[in-house]
Amino acid sequence: MHHFAYRNGRLHCEEVALAEIAEAVGTPAYVYSAGTFEHHISVFREAFAPRDVLIAYAVKANANVAVLATLARLGVGADTVSAGEIKRALAAGIPPGRIIFSGVGKTPSEIAFALEVGLRQINVESPSELVDVAAAAQARGKAAPVALRVNPAIGAGGHDKIATGAAEAKFGVSAQEAVRLYAEAAANPWLEPQGLAIHIGSQIRDLGPLRQAFERLRAMTQTLREEGFPVLRLDLGGGLGVPYFNEPEPPHPKAYAAMIEEVFKGLDVDLAFEPGRLIAANAGVLITRVIRRQPRPHRDIVVLDAAMNDLIRPAMYDAYHDLWLVDEPQEGHPTERVDLVGPVCETSDTFARDRAMPVLAPGALAAFMSAGAYGATMASTYNARTLVPEVLVSGNRFAVVRKGQPVEAQIAMETLPPWLNER
Ligand code: LLP
Repeated sequence: MHHFAYRNGRLHCEEVALAEIAEAVGTPAYVYSAGTFEHHISVFREAFAPRDVLIAYAVKANANVAVLATLARLGVGADTVSAGEIKRALAAGIPPGRIIFSGVGKTPSEIAFALEVGLRQINVESPSELVDVAAAAQARGKAAPVALRVNPAIGAGGHDKIATGAAEAKFGVSAQEAVRLYAEAAANPWLEPQGLAIHIGSQIRDLGPLRQAFERLRAMTQTLREEGFPVLRLDLGGGLGVPYFNEPEPPHPKAYAAMIEEVFKGLDVDLAFEPGRLIAANAGVLITRVIRRQPRPHRDIVVLDAAMNDLIRPAMYDAYHDLWLVDEPQEGHPTERVDLVGPVCETSDTFARDRAMPVLAPGALAAFMSAGAYGATMASTYNARTLVPEVLVSGNRFAVVRKGQPVEAQIAMETLPPWLNER
């Protein structure tokens, strides 16, 4: 469910017409609905009620500080994968005690920073990382709370590139090794093992692999407890899919929660989750304008002002994003099959091929739907394009929550080496 809908023939985000935002900030631009973010959090929470779970929102999905601050007010925590993401979460007012630090390549300075800040836990992904965390904790003279990320050898996800749980994936340690490392951590005065963590992939539409992975985690928890180790927390990751309009609906958070309650029945443990896409995807759109059309014998090409540098998911994962006209097509509005492309000089800058669309005239405004997750966070300045503005809507108000970054700002970061200034 989201708050993007036509009112009197014009596409609105909550109570604000997207055309009004386009007028104010230009296109392309990301537009987010605060109400949708809030709604998604309450749906997730209610699915688990009365159990109180920690929602450690995956910052990588949408890291805008205003978005994070909207979530922080709801008591949401953060799953982070870099010092940068930790800093964003803190800047948004997310308390350190609700921040988890994940990732396969935490550098010694990032580990030291995480310990300095006093995060909830570091999800350790390898034996050598455990050594590094212990060393950093010892250097500070304070034990570090850690969880071990298990690679359950069960991959899942909407695309090969976003499956993380397969045995050959770079993430986590095997179940066997996790048990061994847990014992090692428990014996180290500088480490405080809190529990286990898992995340097997993204855009998962089938509860089967998730259930299997969680069952494995339950068995491991029991083994560890039988061996006398406390396991206080389980971090069940993110990964639940969202509807991108062209596919069958993924399971509702209620079905996901019911499955989890069944798997962990009777096990006294705190649960945390790291949903990203589920919270952010349908809370944002990318508005764009048609620059021109190129007639072609087989089918026309519609060139938009948004490109792969703004929204890379179609180019990178063959992802489908619906494109809605901002002016609602009326009865009898002709439709056609077209290719939707951006201006970047690459064939992969194609949002859709042979897509049935209401006819898009040059100048028409449109919105790529479900672009709130992994949209702005994956943007680049390729082709010396700008990072586009981000706008947050709440009710009948909107605010620019990130200015566009003009190319002059990029150029200002660059300097000539001395020899090019010599004559
Ligand atoms: N936790 C960990 C450790 C993760 O690696 C991820 C995502 C999440 C949580 C959040 O997963 P979600 O609930 O959003 O599925 N750029 C890709 C998605 C990459 C996901 C990477 N990890 C895309 O645009 O589809």
